Amino acid sequence: MSDGLDLYLPVSTTRPAHALETALRAAVVDGRLPVGTRLPASRALAADLGIARSTVSEVYSRLAAEGWLESRVGAGTWIAGFPRQAQPAVAQRQSPPEYELRGGLADAGDFPRSQWSAQTRRALAEMPVSAFAYAPPEGAVELRDTLAGYLARTRGVAVTAAEVLIGSGFGDLLSLTCRAIRARGGKRIAVEEYGHERHRRIIAESGLEIVAIPVDSEGADLADAEADAVFLTPAHQFPTGVPLSPERRRAAVEWANARDALILEDDYDGEFRYDRRSIGALQALAPDRVVYLGTSSKALAPAVGVAWAVAPPELLPELLRQRSLSGVTPSGLHQQVLARFLDSHEYDRAVRRRRATFRTRRELFAQLLAERAPELRPGGLAAGLQCLVELPDAAAEERALAAARQFGVALEGLADYRAPGGNPDRAGVVIGYGAVSSARAARALALAADALANGLSF
Ligand SMILES: Cc1ncc(COP(=O)(O)O)c(C=O)c1O
Repeated sequence: MSDGLDLYLPVSTTRPAHALETALRAAVVDGRLPVGTRLPASRALAADLGIARSTVSEVYSRLAAEGWLESRVGAGTWIAGFPRQAQPAVAQRQSPPEYELRGGLADAGDFPRSQWSAQTRRALAEMPVSAFAYAPPEGAVELRDTLAGYLARTRGVAVTAAEVLIGSGFGDLLSLTCRAIRARGGKRIAVEEYGHERHRRIIAESGLEIVAIPVDSEGADLADAEADAVFLTPAHQFPTGVPLSPERRRAAVEWANARDALILEDDYDGEFRYDRRSIGALQALAPDRVVYLGTSSKALAPAVGVAWAVAPPELLPELLRQRSLSGVTPSGLHQQVLARFLDSHEYDRAVRRRRATFRTRRELFAQLLAERAPELRPGGLAAGLQCLVELPDAAAEERALAAARQFGVALEGLADYRAPGGNPDRAGVVIGYGAVSSARAARALALAADALANGLSF
């Protein structure tokens, strides 16, 4: 009575009983066959594996006697669980923290499901048959058009649809851009001394050598960095939270002009300034030097999987060549839906809703911190979905993180973001207030403030 389950079990023909028994145990332990999974009938499995039915029956009975399987006449055989001796590896796995406060994440709980679903229906009704084929490497023209308008309107980006390139997430476009720089003969890229380790790995994989540059209260300081490109978060340095000062913006452009270098502008949360109007994108100062990178992950969700780049026209052919080599095409359907989402201004509404949520959360956190650890302050701009709370030293950072772990709060310290060669003397904890649900935010942020207060006590 097989229910059609397809199993890949490496079973040799020399010792089939032993091999089948081992393969089934391993599949249960590593989770490929979860508890409750119904196994094929012995006849069906024997036929699939090319072994005798009696061998399968014998293995099923042995595993049933040990507690791995259960069977009932007429109901079949299914995975019953782990016998006691097989449990430790799984049982010792720690339960995930109860509250998610790591930086850069937004709460998917408020994803505008009904609006997305309405625009999906619209896209499906309107899309010509040709739009179901492979999307063009530069992205669907409808999305590039509408994004050009959106980025000019909200971020002051100097752009026409021809310079927009669509990617399947920010990491995809970062990787393409770095590989294009490498293909043009570039060797080194400067990165801010604090940032995502994931991004540094993507950059390093392209073959570029990374040099860390300092970040202070005016943002990243390029000074005389020797590199062919620089990767910056000018609107809201990640994760320290400061904007790149007007002088440093000008200096960055001069630096790039003097070396024929490129600036990669990571505008991951440029729309989320709530103390006042955002400063426009750095790209507008030097459209022929800057590759502007943005994402829908913060306003909507990473599951949308669409990001964009605005690139200098002379870099586009190499980017498209790298696109064709990567074998990746961003989902054509999601591009069509996102184009309509932007056109109908649902995207603007989603940004405004999140902006209001983030603002409330940040204010609440500032208040809780003032009550519990009055000597500490959320640093940087009142913007985005995280802030850095600086601490006196690395020991205080470790104490705060240890307390957070005890309270069931997932948090990261500045050390988790530091690039090799970055300043080891600065310490602090990044509070990502974007990802926890509204119902749990007050509790989570109070625990985070308590953890920081613990960091100060010794
Ligand atoms: C600083 C920064 N840049 C870029 C991104 C990329 O966004 P995604 O890969 O989710 O599109 C993130 C997201 O965590 C981020 O925090």
